Amino acid sequence: MNHLHPLFLLLLPILTIFHPAHAEVGTSAQYGPPFLPTACYGYDPGQFPSSNLFAAVGDGIWDNGAACGRQYLVKCISAAQPGTCVPDQVIQVRIVDFALTAVSPPSYDGTTMVLSDTAFGTIANSTARSINIEFQQI
Ligand SMILES: *[C@@H]1O[C@H](CO)[C@@H](O)[C@H](O)[C@H]1NC(C)=O
Repeated sequence: MNHLHPLFLLLLPILTIFHPAHAEVGTSAQYGPPFLPTACYGYDPGQFPSSNLFAAVGDGIWDNGAACGRQYLVKCISAAQPGTCVPDQVIQVRIVDFALTAVSPPSYDGTTMVLSDTAFGTIANSTARSINIEFQQI
């Protein structure tokens, strides 16, 4: 602690309040059916949560397949078109696929996470092709 600038110590509580632990910022596109087979679970129809809130992940978090089955909290924070995000809406999605090999192409290439059409439409205007998100693994 000796080497921390006093100003940092003053700012620390403020940074903690506005930056929840482990939350990251990224981008999201959406994809629709067909969803099978997936890179995680093949043709198993039981892989999808009954909520239909699931996602395929890009290179950044795929982790050579280790991302399969992980759960993330996802929130829309902004988009090119103002008013796209549904305010204060947070969803929990299960990772079931790798975005780069998903059967259905994403609405936008190269995003952090491609949300199922149901998931995307829950946090944003479903006519949008991509949004900026805040996400956190749980
Ligand atoms: C969704 O976006 C479209 C295109 O910008 C717009 O016409 C429509 O009104 C929006 N829907 C809602 C519910 O905001």
